[in-house]
Amino acid sequence: MGSAKAIHIKLARAEAKQLGLDGLLAPVFQVQSTPKAGKKSAAASATASAWQAGWNNLLSLLDETVSIRPGYDTAVTEGEFDAALGSTLLLRDGADSAKRVVLLGLGRSNKLTLEALGKAWVAGLKRCLKNKAIDHLGLLLPELPEALSFASVIELAADAIYEATYQSAEAKKPPRERWDVTLLLPHKPTKADEQSLTIGEAMARAKSLSKDLINMPANLKRTTTLVEAAQALAKKPGITVQVESDIAWIEREMPAFFSVARGAVASDPPKFITLHYKPKGGKSKTHLVLVGKSVIFDTGGYQVKPGNSMVTMKGDMAGGATVLATMAALAELQPDIQVSAYLAATPNLIDSHAMIPDSVVKSTCGKRVEIRHTDAEGRLTLIDAVAKAAADTEPDMILTIATLTGAAMRAVGRTIALMGNNVQWRDRVHAAALAVGDPVQTLEVVDEDYENIKSKMDAADLINTNQGENRGAQTAAAFVMSGAPEGLPMVHLDIAGADMTKDEKATGISQKTLIRFVLDVASNPK
Ligand code: BES
Ligand code: MN
Ligand code: ZN
Repeated sequence: MGSAKAIHIKLARAEAKQLGLDGLLAPVFQVQSTPKAGKKSAAASATASAWQAGWNNLLSLLDETVSIRPGYDTAVTEGEFDAALGSTLLLRDGADSAKRVVLLGLGRSNKLTLEALGKAWVAGLKRCLKNKAIDHLGLLLPELPEALSFASVIELAADAIYEATYQSAEAKKPPRERWDVTLLLPHKPTKADEQSLTIGEAMARAKSLSKDLINMPANLKRTTTLVEAAQALAKKPGITVQVESDIAWIEREMPAFFSVARGAVASDPPKFITLHYKPKGGKSKTHLVLVGKSVIFDTGGYQVKPGNSMVTMKGDMAGGATVLATMAALAELQPDIQVSAYLAATPNLIDSHAMIPDSVVKSTCGKRVEIRHTDAEGRLTLIDAVAKAAADTEPDMILTIATLTGAAMRAVGRTIALMGNNVQWRDRVHAAALAVGDPVQTLEVVDEDYENIKSKMDAADLINTNQGENRGAQTAAAFVMSGAPEGLPMVHLDIAGADMTKDEKATGISQKTLIRFVLDVASNPK
């Protein structure tokens, strides 16, 4: 996997005792600066930052809690470090120079969100990793603002620790061998704190797995890559895996999905992968279905993408990777619930058999589909996967997750575009995203969106492009949701804007959201 080979995270109360730490990452909030007497000139108050590091309390806190006392540093006394969000400053212990303290700015306490804390922690942890002398780091939890709970912050810390050492599986550098981090809490760790750490680590490992799959170079990635990842999970408790690779079956049972696969049958044949999770002795009747877009590479098909837009399309299976890794986390955590995952895996490639526009194909749900754009392939794979899932399992709800539309990227930027046909279920996914610090924004799918995916052809019911103006993300969602029987609750996540960073690395966005959502439903089914 892509993070350090062996990460050991422990919980301890922050107190002056030998924890064997050789470094500490310590949070510092900003406080309002009080202008010094006699320096009240208008110029001074206009230029001086109104916020400064609230580090006076911190020094005594460090001393009392972990007996590390950094020497006074001019950078601090002269205000070079102002504790702005994500800023860091390395100090040495005054008495024992082998110990380091990295101060981590967290900005203003009342403005701190989970998402911001996560980013700041990753920056601070990376700063610590740079210092080769720090093998056993203490991560001091900040004094929590009211909006944040210990549970969510411990989960987040595990994620940040894995994230900070993460590099793709094909990285040039070998991964770090080992990293020890102790989370320092203001109280003696409770059972609940330990459970939060277990969940956080399962989420973090799942995120490393999905990022590895997404980051894999396009020339190495095949439908079999996802098959192998799924089969690796088949050995885990509660998981069963089925792989359908019979081309004739896929053509007959999932004709819209097969349209996308046509151009790659010879080079990288499609696979319909299903995983089911049911814990041994589980009592829950609640059954959730997760469907992830698994387009191994998206060239756009015959209506080929311009060169620059095709770059990053190795990530067009991010939805599938996220769903798969969610199952891995469930196998670790064993919640009492049933979850099925569906991945219709194929690249969108071109040969003389590839789909062409002006085609009309059937879909699993019985609706006939006009293919107007070969680059709107994701919804063709998903409409059939949704219909198959609904027919197979009679679920309580289906969640689809996909790098589906450029329109989602334009609408919500680098966040999850959250949609659905059922407000209660959509809200539960929204709450899960907020609880793990995944950025999310909601878009409404309205009747007009369903109108705008009606085909004008005699031979077809639906069209795979949007006939209206704009609303490309919502119309794509409406198309995908049309695969489900009337009344079945659906939630749809479009992560096209968010699955990769600016420098084209997998973000793992929505991985924690999916796991949190499943855990929340398991512990509170209705
Ligand atoms: N995989 C793309 C969407 C995408 C775009 C993902 C950018 C990540 C970054 C999808 O298959 C696609 O090509 N969508 C088209 C649909 C259009 C032809 C109706 C789009 O959004 O432009
Ligand atoms: Mn496409
Ligand atoms: Zn695509």
